[in-house]
Amino acid sequence: MRTATSPPRAWWRGDYVICTCHWCRFDLRTGASLTPELTAEPLKKLRYRIEGDELVVEF
Ligand code: FES
Repeated sequence: MRTATSPPRAWWRGDYVICTCHWCRFDLRTGASLTPELTAEPLKKLRYRIEGDELVVEF
């Protein structure tokens, strides 16, 4: 779920992440929403690679 114009920020807590835009929590292993009352939509999986000191994400 994304409605704001600026990128959302997130906090990583153990095996889940909290998106501070709407305070949804997601399981980092599966991407599943842990707050279905806020969103049932899981996180999307993106391909990534490490190039030197950079993390490159493919959208
Ligand atoms: S933008 Fe809404 S939960 Fe992250």
